[in-house]
Amino acid sequence: MTVTMPPSPFLTGLMTPVTDERDDRDLTVTGEVPAGLHGMFVRNGPNPQFAPRGKYHPFDGDGMVHAVYFEDGGVRYRNRWVESKGLLAERARGRALYGGLAEFAIPEPDVAAEGGMIKNTSNTHTVRHANRILSLMEACPPTMLSRELETLGECDFDGRLVGSFTAHPKIDPVSGEMLFFGYSPFPPYLRYHVVDASGVLVHSADIDIPNAVMIHDFAVTEKHVVFLDSPALFDAESMMSGGPMMRWAPDQGTRLGVMPRRGNNADIRWYDVDNQYIVHFFNAWDEDGRVEVRAPRFSHMPGGFEFDEPTGKEAPVPWSWSIDLAANTVRAEQTDDRGGEFPRVNDDLATRPTRYLYNCMARTWEFEFEFHGVVKYDTQTGNATECFYADSEVSGEHAFAPDPNGTAEDDGWLLTLVTDRATDCTDLAILDARDVAAGPVARVHIPRRVPIGFHANWFAEAV
Ligand SMILES: [Fe+2]
Repeated sequence: MTVTMPPSPFLTGLMTPVTDERDDRDLTVTGEVPAGLHGMFVRNGPNPQFAPRGKYHPFDGDGMVHAVYFEDGGVRYRNRWVESKGLLAERARGRALYGGLAEFAIPEPDVAAEGGMIKNTSNTHTVRHANRILSLMEACPPTMLSRELETLGECDFDGRLVGSFTAHPKIDPVSGEMLFFGYSPFPPYLRYHVVDASGVLVHSADIDIPNAVMIHDFAVTEKHVVFLDSPALFDAESMMSGGPMMRWAPDQGTRLGVMPRRGNNADIRWYDVDNQYIVHFFNAWDEDGRVEVRAPRFSHMPGGFEFDEPTGKEAPVPWSWSIDLAANTVRAEQTDDRGGEFPRVNDDLATRPTRYLYNCMARTWEFEFEFHGVVKYDTQTGNATECFYADSEVSGEHAFAPDPNGTAEDDGWLLTLVTDRATDCTDLAILDARDVAAGPVARVHIPRRVPIGFHANWFAEAV
């Protein structure tokens, strides 16, 4: 089916949506796929099936998951739309029915009854927990997918999940728990939850914050959770009248909230910090009575929401926060001047101390979802090693795939999609995390362009 899209920068060039679902086997590989790489790489992103009704925002598009499977029989590629109820309602009528973040519209009653008041695009991230593969979008519940990317329906944890589910839950690699939050423009503004290792939602708590703010990610340690309350305020009145959905309100200040993992609102302790915004965290951990947090930091909320004041194209740089729970102090410092985002660590050490941090870098910080390389920080030695792709290439998030035979923290590989503007082709690049500067050890050639999207992940499978 051919769809004519409007000339949005988010629907043209390397973000031009693809219109088909493919299965390609025996992919060609340059270099050698590491023997320990067994499992599936996934990359979620917005890929609208129908031309938008109004102005398009890059967060609006229907989720499409692209997967590269490393199996005994070789390497294969598959992509599927997340078939949300809203998308199915649109397919039944052959056109877009929902508004978006840049041009809000209340759907017709029959559409709302069928597909919901807002479309659960599920276009942001994909995680695996308790034998469920969950496709995520932060305004709605998760959508369950099969290993072959078939949509299995929304997951409300047997009715226990009330409200939304962040695109960035944290999975404790030791306890197997999944910790997450949901935020809302309407009270309660923030709600926190824990799902146990078997997939049962066992703990929920409403957290009091003074304003309805956007909270994209949070940090979790072995014992604590850390919330960021930054003044990126929802402005419902403005949105309903066609104005900006969000407003940066520096007079409201910024705070970090630390709470025990099974705690409630009464247990949270808030720490004032300078105004800032964090989109994603590298990791966090407990150390000698302190909560250590690592993240790229913006001094204000990044662009993309048409604020009424210009936010510029500021590159976030890595910072560390040491929160001393006995002294009630926060020591914050910038740790490098290289701009970067989509931070990752070896997820086998999520919530525990990590020596190595991986961050995506851009040659110029002009387009929020476009990267050109990756930097590996060794926080013990202070060394940083970089890999940039070819001038014509654009890379995405680098997911860490641990080496099943490894013992060191950086025994593993970094996997990312790299698209060449010159050829309009996409490769899955595989870097050895032990030697990032050496560049890819292998490139899997995907027989199509994969549009620039959001988050990548790796789901290892036993051989
Ligand atoms: Fe994200």
